[in-house]
Amino acid sequence: MAAKTILLAILSLGTVTQAGLVSRQTASGTGPYPAAYTTDAGLAGQTIYMPAIMTADVKLPIIVWGVGGCSDSGTNTAEFHQELASYGFMVIVNNAPTARTQTQATSLITAADWAQKVAGGGKYSNVDKSRIAVGGWSCGGLQAYTVSSDPRWATIGIFSSGQLDASQSVPVASKIAKPIFYFLGGNGDPAQAPGTRDYGNLPKTTPAWIGTNNKGHGHSGPTGTFTAPAIKIAAVRWAQWLLQGNATAGTFFTNNAQATAAGWTGISSQSLDKITVVPL
Ligand SMILES: *[C@@H]1O[C@H](CO)[C@@H](O)[C@H](O)[C@H]1NC(C)=O
Repeated sequence: MAAKTILLAILSLGTVTQAGLVSRQTASGTGPYPAAYTTDAGLAGQTIYMPAIMTADVKLPIIVWGVGGCSDSGTNTAEFHQELASYGFMVIVNNAPTARTQTQATSLITAADWAQKVAGGGKYSNVDKSRIAVGGWSCGGLQAYTVSSDPRWATIGIFSSGQLDASQSVPVASKIAKPIFYFLGGNGDPAQAPGTRDYGNLPKTTPAWIGTNNKGHGHSGPTGTFTAPAIKIAAVRWAQWLLQGNATAGTFFTNNAQATAAGWTGISSQSLDKITVVPL
């Protein structure tokens, strides 16, 4: 009894709720820090997913995300973002929680600028501005491509996306130097061929991975909200490796066994041995 009381006291000492960070939903996700979304007047029109509770020593890399259709709401794929954030990330989604307005690629830059400005202070004291990635789903993936030359990105994530206009594949893909990962949906995914074509047009020196998930993914997942288990685990491993420097998570990509077990096929990669990320 006494020991349990002491343990509880220690646990509560090490736990900080994010003072002032008002979660707008029940925290969830299978990671160590169940996450929920919030908003900030300093970043109008975007939705911010973060762990609801974490210890003061946790560092949160930043992921800025372009929504599907360049118009989905910031909560349309909430489950996916909560899952990612629960592993220790700040995920900023480039539309307001319930808006269905047209988004612009520049909003990804606005999000990165804002996150780096607030990182380390007040309710964002856990946020680590030195680690930042860009990603997006479908039309949002095209927005990630549009801003891909920003030198801040540690990596680029292309989720069921690719240049639909074949003439744009070489001009866009041949300029990518940062590690880039393609998560495609196979049958029923109109991005399957364009994404594969882009991968083939990358410089051979660019670290890259491509996989196709045929287990209920398609373009948008079984419920149209991008929630297939395979996409969630792959996205988490991508962020753990490239942003947290978790080399164990990297084996998901360097050794096909885990990805294959998760339902990924058509796996190919290049220059992954060039990826070295100092653990957080
Ligand atoms: C690194 O990633 C693996 C999953 O591949 C996970 O089991 C492990 O807990 C992670 N380590 C840390 C320190 O987060």
